[in-house]
Amino acid sequence: MYDSNPTLEGLKTIDEAKQGNVLFKEHWQESSVPGEKKFYIESYGCQMNFSDSEIVASILSDVGYSPTRNMEDSDLILINTCSIREKAEETVRKRLRVFDVLKKQRPGLVVGILGCMAERLKKKWLEEEKLVDLVVGPDAYRDLPNLIGSAEDGHRMVNVLLSREETYADISPVRLETNGITAFISIMRGCDNMCSFCVVPFTRGRERSRDPFSVLAEATNLFENGYREVMLLGQNVDSYKWDNPETGQHVDFADLLELVAQVHPSLRVRFSTSHPKDMSDKVLYTMARHHNICKYIHLPVQSGNSRVLDMMNRTYDRPWCEQRIEAIRRILPEATVSSDIITGFCTETEEEHQDTLSIVEWANFSMAYMFYYSERPGTLAARKYADDIPEDVKKRRLNEVIRLQTAISLRHNQADIGKTFEVLIEGNSRKSDADFCGRNTQNKVLVFPKKPGLKPGDYVQVTVKDATSATLLGEIEA
Ligand code: SAH
Ligand code: SF4
Ligand code: F3S
Repeated sequence: MYDSNPTLEGLKTIDEAKQGNVLFKEHWQESSVPGEKKFYIESYGCQMNFSDSEIVASILSDVGYSPTRNMEDSDLILINTCSIREKAEETVRKRLRVFDVLKKQRPGLVVGILGCMAERLKKKWLEEEKLVDLVVGPDAYRDLPNLIGSAEDGHRMVNVLLSREETYADISPVRLETNGITAFISIMRGCDNMCSFCVVPFTRGRERSRDPFSVLAEATNLFENGYREVMLLGQNVDSYKWDNPETGQHVDFADLLELVAQVHPSLRVRFSTSHPKDMSDKVLYTMARHHNICKYIHLPVQSGNSRVLDMMNRTYDRPWCEQRIEAIRRILPEATVSSDIITGFCTETEEEHQDTLSIVEWANFSMAYMFYYSERPGTLAARKYADDIPEDVKKRRLNEVIRLQTAISLRHNQADIGKTFEVLIEGNSRKSDADFCGRNTQNKVLVFPKKPGLKPGDYVQVTVKDATSATLLGEIEA
């Protein structure tokens, strides 16, 4: 068995680390101080990007900018972009044309590109397309105030330097679009894996972990401000590692998870993403020990065929994946697992595609994000392999996986009918103000009629009465 109750050694206490975070910036409100500058920000891509936008909001608020939801009303428009698939980039291009119309009407309006596309297409944006004034990569956000100043003077500015150290550990995010109950905490940045299809190592640089003191300080602050769930974010959380330079103490992901779980028993802890090659039994045992660590693992398998996985450079094969999922079932029998799947990767045969369908069936994922392969310039696959599966075949295979997974999700949810779950109320349901919505520990969304005296942030026992492939419908226990 593994140690429980880890503590953090060292001179620097969590209270000291909190100093950097004392200015907890509650979720923002529109303000209308005359003369105050406003920024409008749109975010695309993964949760890390949404979390980064909250760091950007914090940096901007320190220099007097306040956020607005109305782009017509803003002095600065920022778009935090994603490069993961071609479609993601196309969406951003469309938005830039919309911003460009505004820019032509309002000289002085500054438009900036942030995030993963900034990194990938810096030259093109500035020299060819001339749609933007600022291009700022994910490790350069501290430079934003300077860059904006120069852009206001009419210069086109760019900073896409990637860093080996930057974790924005001392920056207290301004929570944007928050429900006041759940929040992201980035625990690491970048990625050191070289999955052959993936652009992330090129857009976000080398992997680095944030110091645990600042992670704990942020979680504690969130709890003290009414939040009841934190999601620890990283491209591969299981490779989180931090060595205390003062004491030599080593903190791995399981240790960090346990430390955050100890902030308060009423603070739920989630995390994403787990990589099958690194997900350890130590993490699973840590999850088993703490009621407030949610019993849900997002474990992208990508494919069910070992030859394709090898070409993807995922560094695991199908038996390894199955053995990891079996470990979850053994150590955490109540846990759900979700996944990511890519169809039509280079050279994938029909039989190999059948292997993906069979692992999806075998694994009984509660949910999956499914994509067809999209070649990304500069990646290993783009350099080494022909993108040789016709688009119609990629899409047909994708539809087959989606059809199967939808049926499995429905079956999975129907199996919950009659069960009672502890649910954290997150807010009103999207469809009706008479209903609340929230999630159970397995990350399933439950919708149920309100009862007097209850509010978002409360835990309630809900019995499931009906289910769709996406939602459980229930009633609060008397
Ligand atoms: N770090 C995570 C993945 C982050 S990207 C992991 O390793 O699991 C999110 C998902 O996008 C990936 O899991 C993959 O399924 C999908 N994806 C990434 N690159 C892609 C590409 N070139 N084409 C299609 N889907 C891709
Ligand atoms: Fe991309 Fe692989 Fe890193 Fe995930 S682990 S971000 S898929 S390179
Ligand atoms: Fe997209 Fe960058 Fe995330 S490419 S998926 S926003 S790390």
